[in-house]
Amino acid sequence: METHVEVPRAWEQLAVERLRGTLLVIGAPDVGKTTFARYLYQRLCEAARCVAYLDGDPGQSTLGPPATIGLSVGVRGDAAFPPKGPSWRSFVGAVSPQGHMLPLLVGASRLERAARAQGVDTIVYDTSGLVDPGQGGLALKQAEIDLLRPSVVFAIQRAGELESLLVPLRWSSSVRVIDLCPAPLARQRDVAARQAHRAEGFARYFASPGGGGTWPVLMVDWGRLAVYPAPRFVLHGLLALEDRDGYTLGLGIVFDADFREKRVELYTPLNSLAGVDALRLGDLIVDPRTFRDHRLLAKHSGGAADSG
Ligand SMILES: Nc1ncnc2c1ncn2[C@@H]1O[C@H](COP(=O)(O)OP(=O)(O)OP(=O)(O)O)[C@@H](O)[C@H]1O
Ligand SMILES: [Mg+2]
Repeated sequence: METHVEVPRAWEQLAVERLRGTLLVIGAPDVGKTTFARYLYQRLCEAARCVAYLDGDPGQSTLGPPATIGLSVGVRGDAAFPPKGPSWRSFVGAVSPQGHMLPLLVGASRLERAARAQGVDTIVYDTSGLVDPGQGGLALKQAEIDLLRPSVVFAIQRAGELESLLVPLRWSSSVRVIDLCPAPLARQRDVAARQAHRAEGFARYFASPGGGGTWPVLMVDWGRLAVYPAPRFVLHGLLALEDRDGYTLGLGIVFDADFREKRVELYTPLNSLAGVDALRLGDLIVDPRTFRDHRLLAKHSGGAADSG
């Protein structure tokens, strides 16, 4: 994220005091969704509202490591970003929603529930840029809308690419569509820049305290835990350690697995299994030296664009 943010007139003119409920920000890759969502979040905070920020992009994540989506609650009157209040994460298991739309939707619903339980009245939901109808993108946005029932959809489009989704919404009394143009300074990131950005995100997450060193490996007796979908551990596979409500307590990279002893060695910032109820295996390999990722399941990667 660049330090200088150009704030278009249309953003300044938003009457944020009237906005309540879930505010969904949608658009194709690189139109400036995250920059706008963050601006909106900060405006709402300045208006002394109890706001949460939902980072719904498992690729170019803002709040935490890639392959997860996350929610942080702001402290009333404090526009600091990332928000300083409590936060939760939910594991998607991949860095693109393609092939992982269900865990993305389930996670978004779970995170929204956490926000509501905190008494949050407004959630800014920044979504992934997957809107290509051929890849199921618009169907995913429709499902997000049907599930989360946003009060407002902020639609940032270049050339009508969201219109087939928006036309019926414009007739609905339950949701308001606010159209925005991409900010002139919004710039595109290519596949390599996206991969590098994700690697930085994983490196930050897995960095040991003080830097330089490595975490001790955590030994996990998986015979005592729920393992979803099944204990098929692969070298450098990414997994999540989850609590009993399905929230992610930490991520781990598989170093070794002993199938006879039902024991797996994980590289993880977690130093104990306190509160861990389950392991959830992703579809991603993360190199523990470079933190570059690639998909594990060939069936999902054949020819698909890397939209993460
Ligand atoms: N209003 C703005 N002022 C300055 N820079 C901007 C603005 N909007 C976007 N940018 C820059 O353009 C790039 C893409 O913006 P951003 O990450 O907000 O887009 P996005 O739609 O969220 O992308 P993605 O689909 O990857 O999530 C970033 O480098 C960001 O800093
Ligand atoms: Mg974004």
